[in-house]
Amino acid sequence: MENLEKENYRLKEEIKKLKREISQEIEKNHKNDKVLFKQSKMASLGEMLGNIAHQWRQPLMELSSVTMELQAKIELLGKVTNEEIIESIEKSNDIIQYMSQTIDDFRNFFAKDKKRVQFKITEQISSAINMINSSLKQHNIKLEIIVIKNSSIIGFKNEYSQVLINILSNAKDELVNRKIKDPKITLKIGEKEGKSIVEIEDNAGGIKIEPIDKVFEPFYTKDKANGTGVGLFMSKLIVENNMDGRLLVKNSSKGAKFIIVIPKSF
Ligand SMILES: Nc1ncnc2c1ncn2[C@@H]1O[C@H](COP(=O)(O)OP(=O)(O)O)[C@@H](O)[C@H]1O
Ligand SMILES: [Mg+2]
Repeated sequence: MENLEKENYRLKEEIKKLKREISQEIEKNHKNDKVLFKQSKMASLGEMLGNIAHQWRQPLMELSSVTMELQAKIELLGKVTNEEIIESIEKSNDIIQYMSQTIDDFRNFFAKDKKRVQFKITEQISSAINMINSSLKQHNIKLEIIVIKNSSIIGFKNEYSQVLINILSNAKDELVNRKIKDPKITLKIGEKEGKSIVEIEDNAGGIKIEPIDKVFEPFYTKDKANGTGVGLFMSKLIVENNMDGRLLVKNSSKGAKFIIVIPKSF
């Protein structure tokens, strides 16, 4: 009898110890996830800086051509008219306005989303497109947008744009690397069974990774000179952990197709 009690006590202590160890392990995993997320954020920051540089190159050139034109006129003709000066000022103002808008877009983007808000899908899609449009244009990539239904969802706005930018810039990378003729990305915005569905499809020939879901693994990158392998990993975390949604991928007859499914807000 006494032995049984002793044994019982010993088992209880053993269970307590195991429980402690398990919660310590869970805590450790949680911390690892956080570190991984931070690392990915830093890496994607690098990618974003590349985008800013790109977005500014064109307007900077335009601005310098406006001032060069004025200077040339003064040097060659000895004078400029008031109208010409005003025209130059107006042109410069437009360009500066545009540059200031891009900076705002990026500032909003980098600002940490503090709270979940309700937003329209197309709102965040246009802000994402604003940020990478000039690099799509540079490579003559056609962007087709089909809006069937523009739903509202609740979540972190900037993170949602980040997911779109990651997917769009991957498509761009592949279209450029594989030198696709008539490169094109199609965005289809709709809804199904109370969920907002956004499909992003390119015509770059598809994902050549088996199994295809490997693209979501952290730091998994393939056939890229400066790939970080964090874009899709982060995107999946954002959609599935922070927004209760699903991020899916498959190959279509033309190329890769990413599908973002997020429950609608009513
Ligand atoms: N649209 C696409 N078409 C073909 N392959 C793709 C596409 N999008 C992603 N991939 C593949 O998935 C990999 C992982 O993407 P990502 O996580 O964004 O990392 P990175 O772009 O830094 O390599 C890419 O290296 C690429 O091989
Ligand atoms: Mg990427």
